[in-house]
This record gives sequence, C-alpha cells and structure tokens, in this order.
Amino acid sequence: MTRIDSSAADSPFVAIRGSLGDSRLTLEPPPQYSLAIVNVTNHCNLSCKHCFVFRDGNPNSPEGEMTSDEVLAEVERLRDRHGLQRVVWMGGEPMLRWRLLARGVTLFEDNIIATNGSIPLKDFGENVTYVISLDGPVALHDEIRGEGAFERTMATIESVPEGFRSLVMVQCVLHRENQNHLDELVAALLPTPVRGITFTFLVPQAGEVSGRAWRDVEEREAAVDIVMELKRRHPRFVWNSARSLDLMRPAVSKVVTDACPLMEITLPLYMEGKRFSSPLCCYGNDVDCDRCGSWGVFATAAKRPGPWDEVAPA
Ligand SMILES: C[S@@+](CC[C@H](N)C(=O)[O-])C[C@H]1O[C@@H](n2cnc3c(N)ncnc32)[C@H](O)[C@@H]1O
Ligand code: SF4
Ligand code: SF4
Repeated sequence: MTRIDSSAADSPFVAIRGSLGDSRLTLEPPPQYSLAIVNVTNHCNLSCKHCFVFRDGNPNSPEGEMTSDEVLAEVERLRDRHGLQRVVWMGGEPMLRWRLLARGVTLFEDNIIATNGSIPLKDFGENVTYVISLDGPVALHDEIRGEGAFERTMATIESVPEGFRSLVMVQCVLHRENQNHLDELVAALLPTPVRGITFTFLVPQAGEVSGRAWRDVEEREAAVDIVMELKRRHPRFVWNSARSLDLMRPAVSKVVTDACPLMEITLPLYMEGKRFSSPLCCYGNDVDCDRCGSWGVFATAAKRPGPWDEVAPA
C-alpha cells in the first residue's frame, strides 16, 4: 500500500500521487476492493466552500462527461475486475443524474447515494441508503453551501413519504466553526424521516490554514468530545461508534491515518472526461492525511485489527 506522507506536500511526489492512484486500474493481478466511490458527474448545483472534489489537482472538469451507458458499462467492468461489493454514488451532485443511478443501483446489493438533498429523493428500494449532507443549523449550513440551501434540503427530507423503502440518513461535516452547534442540528432532525446521523470531521487540503480547519489533532480533540457527548445522549441516532471516536484522539489518530484502512478497502473513481481515473484517495489528490477526520477511515479502523490496537487497545 502506498503510504502518504503529507509532510511531502512540497515535494515532486505530490505531482505523481494521482498517477499512483490511477495505476490501481491497470495493475495485474487487479487489486481487490470491497467498496467503490463513484463520481458520476462533476456538475454541481452548489459550490460549497469546504468541498474536496473541486480542489485544484483533482479530476473535476464537467466537460465532455461519459454517457449513462458508458458509466454503467465501465462500473460493471470495474466491479468484476476489482471484486467490488458496495458503492457510494457521488459527484458533484449525483442526483442530477438520477436516471443513471436508477440503473446503477441494480448492479450492487448495497448502495449509498451521497447527495446535497436539493433534488427530491427517488425510492430506489431497500438496497439504497441516502446520505444527505447537512453541515449545521441553518446559518452555518448556508454559510458553507449558499443561502437557502438548508431550507431546500430540509424540505426534501420532510417530503419523504411514509413507506419510502430507501433508508434516509444525514452526514454532517464537522469543523471548527460548527462544532459547538451540533445539538441544534440533531434536534431539528429527530422528528423527521432521517434515521441517523454520522459526523465526519473535515479533511483539509495539504497545508490548509482556514477558520474551518483545526490546526492539528490536538486542537480537534474538543470536537471529538462534543460528538462523544452527543452519542451518549442519542446513542441510536448518532451512528459514530465510541471506538471510532476514541481512535481520533491525538495519541492514536496518526497511527490510523498512516495506515489508512479506508484506502485499503476503497477504489475511488473520479470522472475524467470519457474515463474514470483513480486519485490518491476518495478525498482526491490534495489532502492532509495527518489531519484527516474522515468518518470512513476511523469507522473502518474501529471494526478491524491494525497497528492502532497497540496504542489504543479495543
Ligand atoms: C463531495 S460531496 C458529493 C455529494 C453531494 N454533492 C453532497 O454534497 O453530499 C460528499 C460528501 O463529502 C463532504 N465533504 C466535502 N468536502 C469535505 C471535506 N473537505 N472534508 C470532509 N468531507 C467533505 C460533503 O459535505 C458531503 O457530505
Ligand atoms: S454539493 Fe457536494 S459536490 Fe457540490 S460543492 Fe457541495 S459538497 Fe461539493
Ligand atoms: S482517507 Fe484520509 S487518511 Fe486516508 S488517504 Fe485519504 S486523506 Fe489520507
């Protein structure tokens, strides 16, 4: 496995990270992954300030994209080549291509659609989970995602009819500016059809200095405690496990991200014109692994043995 040293952000290694990722698609024998993250479009109807997809250095041009038939044929081929069992359908905004998704979800038994919730959800059946992005109560969400975004997404959630078979949940990207306002978000969601929430912590760009990004994992620990406390009060609604949160603590976080377990199980596929390319990881090519707070990374580590067990015994 490629080990990523974010301290190498200024080195020539950065320039070839993407191609290292891309070699996954041609290596023989083909590396096997249980999960694919498939970017079905680089078009988006929002332009969120924190978004990793649209950072420089990622394949993110909306020009000349594959047709639905081309996407589906390629996803099927890659499924068989890499042993894929589950997919996260992503973008851009994947629901802009919901007709493609309607066919795509038949290729896998387990599908997640990550959406900003601005487009009405379709009932694609029980093998689909919608993960809707909400990044705080109205003012904080709209600060990142644009005015009116929160109301639109809440309207989508509230219009989910009784008997809707696909599971609906929420993902909140936690950062320095919204960490003290999570109670309000949870309170707004409890009476809705949303069945649970995961908090994923901001994945900053290499070298990012911003109001949102914690300086380091030491500073981030207060936010870990806030989610722990929310989990204590809403154990069924907050899906982050206590173990995954404990693995984010300063003494162990870097042990986890240095051996990134998400990278081991995931094939990231970004749309690059008429083909899929595979960047460094599902967060693209320009990331600061040392400060990565991806829910997927720590939730995966919490479920399997790894070097972190020596520092934080289960
Ligand atoms: C890239 S979006 C694509 C799907 C859809 N457009 C949406 O917003 O949900 C997928 C998820 O990544 C999250 N995300 C974006 N930038 C992030 C970052 N820098 N760190 C962690 N998560 C991020 C979004 O908030 C969203 O929940
Ligand atoms: S809606 Fe999703 S893909 Fe679009 S800019 Fe926001 S986070 Fe990125
Ligand atoms: S998921 Fe996080 S730790 Fe893993 S490679 Fe990407 S940025 Fe680094």
